[in-house]
Amino acid sequence: MSDSTKEWQKDAGASAMDEIPEDDAALEHKILRLTGELIRRRLGKRRPFKPGITSIPYAGRVYDEREVQAAVQASLDFWLTLGPEGQAFERELAEYLGVKRALMVNSGSSANLIALMSLTSEQLDRPLRKGDEVITVACGFPTTVNPIVQAGCIPVFVDVDMTTLGVDVTQLEAARSERTRAVLLAHTLGNPFDLDAVLSFCRAYDLVLIEDNCDALGSRYRGQLTGTFGNFGTSSFYPAHHITAGEGGAVYTHDLHLAKIAESFRDWGRDCWCACGRDNTCGKRFAWEWDDLPAGYDHKYVYRHLGYNLKPTDIQAAIGRVQLRKLGEFGAARRRNWARLRQLLSPLEGRVNFVQATPGADPSWFGLAMVLQQPDHEVLHRICAILDAKRVGHRRIFAGNLLRHPAYRHVEHRKVGLLPVSDHVLAGGFFVGVYPGLDDQMMETQAKTVIEAVEQAQRR
Ligand SMILES: Cc1ncc(COP(=O)(O)O)c(C=O)c1O
Repeated sequence: MSDSTKEWQKDAGASAMDEIPEDDAALEHKILRLTGELIRRRLGKRRPFKPGITSIPYAGRVYDEREVQAAVQASLDFWLTLGPEGQAFERELAEYLGVKRALMVNSGSSANLIALMSLTSEQLDRPLRKGDEVITVACGFPTTVNPIVQAGCIPVFVDVDMTTLGVDVTQLEAARSERTRAVLLAHTLGNPFDLDAVLSFCRAYDLVLIEDNCDALGSRYRGQLTGTFGNFGTSSFYPAHHITAGEGGAVYTHDLHLAKIAESFRDWGRDCWCACGRDNTCGKRFAWEWDDLPAGYDHKYVYRHLGYNLKPTDIQAAIGRVQLRKLGEFGAARRRNWARLRQLLSPLEGRVNFVQATPGADPSWFGLAMVLQQPDHEVLHRICAILDAKRVGHRRIFAGNLLRHPAYRHVEHRKVGLLPVSDHVLAGGFFVGVYPGLDDQMMETQAKTVIEAVEQAQRR
C-alpha cells in the first residue's frame, strides 16, 4: 500500500486493506481524492439560507466528503456483505457504549425484532413463551411494540408522563401480572425514561429490560449512556437519527450469551458464529453431534433458531464508522440547538407543555416536542399546515396512541386505564428539529414561525 493511500486512510479512518500494487493504490488514492473534491464542491454550493423560502428540515443527514470517501472505498473493496468494515464498526460502537458486544443490523426495527426474539431462545433458562406479557407504551413508534406481537406475546400498555413523554412509572405495578416477563421501552425523542424506577421494577420481579435507544444514541442518565442499562439496547442509523448509515441499526448487550443468540437470529438462525468469509471458527466444524442430524453435519448449516437475515452491507458500516467519530460533536450541537430553541419558544408557555428532560438525564435530543395544553386536533392540524406552508419541518409524536391506528385494532393486548396522556399527545403533540444541520439563524426562524403558527391556529 502506498504512503498516499495510507495517508488517506489515516485521514478518513478507513480500515486496513490487503497489500495492493503501487499503481492500483495510486489510482485508488486519486479516486478518493477526486471524490472528496467533488463532494466538497457540491456541499460548498448549497444556497444560503433564506427565512421562509429555504426549508428547515426536522432532521437529516449531516456529512462531508469523509462519509462518501468511505463508501467509495468500501465499494472499491467490494466486500459488499457485512465484512471487515462491519466488524470494525461493531467493535468501535461497543467500545463507545462500554458494552461487551454490538451487532450491526439493517435497521432499528430489525434491532428491536432481534432483541425481543432473542428472548424466545431455548438456549435461555426461561425463554419467553407465546402468551407471556411485555410491558410497553402506546405513545411511541410502531416497531418498538411490533416485535412483542410478532413473537406471539401480549403487549401491556401503560401511559406516558406528560412532562417527559417517558413511561409513566407509577403504572408499572398495575400493569404486572403472573405472565409479565419483560419491559420494552423507548427513550422517546432522546429523553431517557426514568431508569431508576424501571430498573428497580425489573429487578424486583426478575424482568428483562430492552431499551429502544433508536432516538437517543449519546443520551446519558446519571452519567451513563442510555441503551447500556438493560439486557439489550438498540439503535437506528436511518438518516433522521443521531448518526446515519443510510439504513442500519445495532443491537447491543453486556451479556455475551445473549449476543450469540442475537447474532444467530440476525444470521439466518444458524448455530455457527463464523464471521462472513470465515470458516471453522469453533475448530470443530465437522465434529459436532446433534440429536436428529448425522454426526459431523456441517456446522455452518445447522440451525438453532427460526432466524432472519437482517445484516446490512459493509458499505453502510464504512459510512457508520465515520459518523460514529462525529457523534460527540453531533450530540453537542443537538443539546445546544435544543437549549436555544427552548429559550426562543418561551412565549408559548401557558399554551403548550414543553417536554422536559427526565430528572438525572442529559438527553441528546432528537427533537423539541410540544403538546398543546388544550388538546384539539383541529388546532394541531392548522398549526402543522402553517408550518408546512412556511417550510418548517415538523412531525407528530410518532403514533400518538398506537391503539388508535388500524393495524392495532385486532391486536390482543392489555392496558392500564384509558391512556389519556397518549390520547392527549395524539391530539396535540408535535416536534420540530434540533439536528446538527440547523444553525442559529434557522433556529430563530423556526422559533418565530412556530410561535406565529400556534398563536394563529388558536385564534381561529
Ligand atoms: C423509537 C424508535 N424505534 C425504532 C425505530 C425504527 O428505526 P428504523 O427506521 O431504523 O427501522 C424508530 C425510527 O425512527 C424510532 O423512532
